Amino acid sequence: MVPNFTGRQSECEEIMGHLASESNQLVSIWGSPGFGKTSVAIAVGHDLRNMGMPVCWLSLRGLRSKAALASKILSCIRRSVINEQPSFLRLSLDDQLCQLLSETSERSFFILDNADDLLESGDSDVKEDVLQLIEEILRRNERLTIVVTTRESLEFMNVHFQGHKSVRIRTLEEAHAQTLVQELLSNVSSLECRRITQICGFVPLAIKLLCCSISEYKAQPSQFLDEFMQHSASASIIEMLDNADSPPNHRLQFLVSSSFQRLNAQEREALVSLSILPDNFGSEVAAAVLGKNTFQTNKMLQNFRRKSLLDSGLQEEFFTMHKLIHTFAREKGLNEMKDTVLKSKNHLNSFYSSLFEKLNRKYLTGHSMEAFLEFYKDEQSIVQSLLESLSDPITARAVFEVLAKGELFLDNLYFLEGSTFD
Ligand SMILES: Nc1ncnc2c1ncn2[C@@H]1O[C@H](COP(=O)(O)OP(=O)(O)OP(=O)(O)O)[C@@H](O)[C@H]1O
Ligand SMILES: [Mg+2]
Repeated sequence: MVPNFTGRQSECEEIMGHLASESNQLVSIWGSPGFGKTSVAIAVGHDLRNMGMPVCWLSLRGLRSKAALASKILSCIRRSVINEQPSFLRLSLDDQLCQLLSETSERSFFILDNADDLLESGDSDVKEDVLQLIEEILRRNERLTIVVTTRESLEFMNVHFQGHKSVRIRTLEEAHAQTLVQELLSNVSSLECRRITQICGFVPLAIKLLCCSISEYKAQPSQFLDEFMQHSASASIIEMLDNADSPPNHRLQFLVSSSFQRLNAQEREALVSLSILPDNFGSEVAAAVLGKNTFQTNKMLQNFRRKSLLDSGLQEEFFTMHKLIHTFAREKGLNEMKDTVLKSKNHLNSFYSSLFEKLNRKYLTGHSMEAFLEFYKDEQSIVQSLLESLSDPITARAVFEVLAKGELFLDNLYFLEGSTFD
């Protein structure tokens, strides 16, 4: 069992609910790196075992081909079903596998953990072959159910199995995240506990890493957190959470960066561009920074959502980027993709300066209340963009013209705050 396993009752119940029906032959568990998919799958495996069900657990991390998968499954079931007849041994791996499976009549479960390397390698042939093999296995044995964990949603990978159910693993609920902190640190106050969970954005892996650093530190947690926050203003939170002695699989930087590496060049650029926005943004401003039309933008945003790099916001048309992914993408932009950041900032600035121009027109044509409301909704971003454009000689002239026409509007907006207006 995962040490200090906390929360996730509802996710486990949902998964067990799907598994209760034999017609759900494929159940996928998906979510962002380090959020706890494998841990949930382990808990589910134990629940199944406790019910007396045969469960076969296979970690697929590092596997790169369908043949590797077939031989891994085969070596697992061979332990229980032995067939050494020469006619059997002459069959191909796939056929051996299918034959063994069709001879098994008991209800059983395979848990295929971390299938990302196989399904998201970027090689669509590997993915197709693997999916075909899974389909064939399920067809040969209708009493078998496969549980698979991936970062990307299977549902969107064009996988259309009948009886496929998917469950997304999000961050821990706040109360559970706090329980986890209390289990990991004995002398933590409730205020410190809340600070830790918030710094980590309720991600179990991040919580474990931060608590581990705190417990190695001899002073009070709050002292550690103060220093941590001071440094994190200048460094990436992800880097600061990592501990050089952890195995790579437990390093946040490694996990998030391996998800990033799987993206193609266009997707990488888009993710870095979006990271210049606040971590909660609408699709209209996203289209502006990406420099794409609404259709292309929505396609990209949905693509990131199914790769669990973005989440839907509370309002429709709004998206959130988890802060760990957000800080990672910003760092990438800052260090390696400066041109992309510059281009997206220019797009963003011209978006807000045309928005200001539009609102000014509204104001001048008698729709002043509407113009005020819309301005205040995005005030910070509009003002920041106007100031940035003014300090760039290439864009300054155009923005001065916009502002010159907007003098009356600005005077009204800031009649109580002369200094801001100046
Ligand atoms: N509910 C939980 N309670 C306690 N610890 C957890 C919980 N969920 C995850 N962890 C811890 O967080 C770390 C990462 O979890 P896990 O490996 O399950 O994430 P994952 O989503 O499978 O990551 P990946 O995307 O790399 O496959 C592990 O060290 C695990 O012990
Ligand atoms: Mg995993």
